[in-house]
Amino acid sequence: MRISDEQINEIREKADIVDFINVYVPLKKTGKNYKGLCPFHEEKTPSFVVSPDKQIYHCFGCGAGGNIFTFVRQYKNVSFIEAVKEVAEFIGIKLEFEENVSEKLDKNEKYYAINNFAQKHFAKILQESEHAKSVREYLKQRDIKTHTQKTFGLGYALPARDAFLKTLERNKINLDDVTTLGLIDKDQQGRYYDKFRGRLIFPIHTTNGRIAGFGGRILQSGAQTAKYINSPESPIYSKRKILYGLYFAKEEIRRLGKAILVEGYMDVISLYQNGIKNVVAASGTSLTEEQARLLSRYAKSVVVIFDADEAGERAAKRSIEILLKAHFDVRLLTLPEGEDPDSYIKSHTPDDFRDLVNSAKDFLSFQAAQFEKQGKLADPVSRTEAIRELVKSVALVEDELMRANYLSTLSANFNIKEKLLEDELLKLLNKEKTRKNYAERKTKERAESVRKVVSGRANLPFEKTVIKLLFSGNMEVVGEVFDHINPDVLQEPNLREIAAKLYDAYMDDVIEPSLLFDMLDENLRNIAAEIVMSKEPISEKWGTIDEEQSEEGLLKLTRDFIRAFQLQNIETQLAQISKELEETEDEAEKLKLLEEIQELLQEKKQLTKPDDVPF
Ligand code: CTP
Ligand code: MN
Repeated sequence: MRISDEQINEIREKADIVDFINVYVPLKKTGKNYKGLCPFHEEKTPSFVVSPDKQIYHCFGCGAGGNIFTFVRQYKNVSFIEAVKEVAEFIGIKLEFEENVSEKLDKNEKYYAINNFAQKHFAKILQESEHAKSVREYLKQRDIKTHTQKTFGLGYALPARDAFLKTLERNKINLDDVTTLGLIDKDQQGRYYDKFRGRLIFPIHTTNGRIAGFGGRILQSGAQTAKYINSPESPIYSKRKILYGLYFAKEEIRRLGKAILVEGYMDVISLYQNGIKNVVAASGTSLTEEQARLLSRYAKSVVVIFDADEAGERAAKRSIEILLKAHFDVRLLTLPEGEDPDSYIKSHTPDDFRDLVNSAKDFLSFQAAQFEKQGKLADPVSRTEAIRELVKSVALVEDELMRANYLSTLSANFNIKEKLLEDELLKLLNKEKTRKNYAERKTKERAESVRKVVSGRANLPFEKTVIKLLFSGNMEVVGEVFDHINPDVLQEPNLREIAAKLYDAYMDDVIEPSLLFDMLDENLRNIAAEIVMSKEPISEKWGTIDEEQSEEGLLKLTRDFIRAFQLQNIETQLAQISKELEETEDEAEKLKLLEEIQELLQEKKQLTKPDDVPF
């Protein structure tokens, strides 16, 4: 007898932990949370806290913590299945056992259905409405044919504040669900309104052609609002995991063994219409590791085209690293100043464009050209630094033969003995290896000592904040954290283990706090609950993290925090190395340590610059 995961999730979603626990433990509202006398130990003043937002509980007295199911298990001393049954009964759901799985409806289906409905609605307005005449004219001017508009499902959202809302109401569509998808929202007075107004609508398809979200472009230039708005993160849309256009491009990308990566929606559409169909865009974000991994399922070669502005160049640099790490053969191309692929293809033939793509420079020549342009190759000192940078990029290439080829090119172009470059590369590769081994050994050693003095460690507040952010239930926040912070760098062993488990869950797209609790054993669960629920500021600076309301605010805070965390990590390492430097007598060892210090200082310098995210 087994209860399906879907049903367990349905129960988890429908059951409210506060309602449930309140039956056994009288709870009183205090701020965002509820408080009561802990049922798991004797107490006179309440220290048992339940969070309706995160659907978890924690006792600050005895340390017990978990989600609704662990509560039943602990309280009634029953098995997991028994606990699920109990909760199901409480909310009046009849349990079906694994036999009738066929009747299950994927809970996300309803969201896709709404997006489908929305796409049809917007498309119909674009193609037929009197009010969209000027929009059709606009597209005509931009040379986007009706056929292409239909292929990509383009639409138009009327400017009125409730045009789409009315259609939803007429069709009796659940407005809560539409709000979850970010197509409508509530104002201060609690009235719904359309989020996309007076905008050209670009449906964003999953790799399988389902509509996960939308982008919307204003028509008039120089307006007060953002040029593009995009659907927020939702159960079916995570912008860092979707590539715009991949659904239309995937066959061609496979066939050619090569993808073209551009910046914008319009670039994808315009190139596609001109027969260049292997095009995708990382729209609304700089390229993420998830997107690179996704793309690598279809081809191993990619040509990156960026606008010839500073933001474009920074984005290009970041993409190189991400794409190399995903084992792509990376080529890059900058268009003439002021042009983007869309404008370029309009004044040239498709064959011109293909020639251009074929002339794209490999990442190494591209980077070298960038350095040249920045005047970094002029004097011996900055030239050495630049070459070192280039070798560092080569070290990211996985294929050994490829690496050797790149080195030969470097050696020829810079007129430097290949052997020298090889030594430098080997040093980097070895360093990476030793760094890993060293880190592993150190972590083990530290784990021991940390266990003895858990609460006394300086960076515990930071590490706890990492955990707190990972339980934020916000895909972008979690993604941002894992992009920059490897679970292994956490020094407190329990926190490290929690982070590692959450990383696995994240890879499976699971980030919902109460779900995550099921993946932790009792000890880790209690620790995690304490951190998530803790009202005490973790540190003076970061204590307000869960008070932060807006998504944007939280994301910015996350980015600031990550930088601070990395800086702090560097300081720790610097202190450690300086100590080792004092202790060692060995000259070679000393040199190695000095070099490490140099590198850390370099990293530190990088971090104090503003971030490289173009949007
Ligand atoms: N973008 C975004 N939000 C913004 C600006 C840009 O999400 N506020 C994303 C969009 O995916 C956009 C891409 O970045 O397509 C590139 O932006 P931009 O070059 O400004 O727009 P184009 O795609 O060139 O659009 P158009 O040609 O219509 O000006
Ligand atoms: Mn453009």
